[in-house]
Amino acid sequence: MPSKIHFGTNTKRDLDRQSHLNLVQSAIELSAEYPEVQFFVLPPAPLLAELKAKADGSSVRIGSQMVTYTSGFNVTGEISARLLKEVGSELVMVGHAERRAQGEDGPIVDKQLRMLTDYQLPTLLCVGEDEKIDDANTRLKVFKEQLQGLANIPKYPLIVAYEPVWSIGDGGEAAAPEYVVAAIKQIKGQLIGLNRGSTPVLYGGSVSEENAPAYAHICDGLFVGRAAWNEGGFRRVFESGYKKIIKK
Ligand code: PGA
Repeated sequence: MPSKIHFGTNTKRDLDRQSHLNLVQSAIELSAEYPEVQFFVLPPAPLLAELKAKADGSSVRIGSQMVTYTSGFNVTGEISARLLKEVGSELVMVGHAERRAQGEDGPIVDKQLRMLTDYQLPTLLCVGEDEKIDDANTRLKVFKEQLQGLANIPKYPLIVAYEPVWSIGDGGEAAAPEYVVAAIKQIKGQLIGLNRGSTPVLYGGSVSEENAPAYAHICDGLFVGRAAWNEGGFRRVFESGYKKIIKK
């Protein structure tokens, strides 16, 4: 069982700069109140350095929503692992469903993982099935495929986020806790087989203040989208899920 609870958000594309500053401020305050929790925020790249400077001196990790899989010189508009390392990104996400939907799937995610290990950049790997799958064997196949890239790279700091694609974003339906329990058990089984049994596995997908308590007990942390972005949302979702558990 990983020792720390992880709690963070990927702010995607549209949140403005001031809202990011407020969100990180809230994460900094929470990190002082709940030192047993690893908070993280993944902003768009233009805000990375500023937010990183703001969070300096706290335990809040500021990281990137993406890294390029390309190599060579003639590449425009991508962000390299090397530059992420230089600007101090403390976590890099790969495999998010919305990136997979743009073509960053399977072999591309594996390339990204290799680039991140080359630079020893802690990684948040998202996995999840496109449609709800009740058959355990069929679901296991998806996880096996999405995690197999880990077999080819050295061990380095890693977090896995289980994000069923059908539960993410507008129109997403939060997965039933018992479904999440079964899926996370399968993912952990795979990670043990890959000699990464201590990897934290988070849940993400329409997490809200209302449903956070149901998930908080069954995984190593929460990866939150929309519900964390409005004024005070990051704190409200966190405390709804964890205050009672931690302050017991
Ligand atoms: P959501 O986003 O909480 O808004 O569903 C989750 C995600 O995309 O990581």
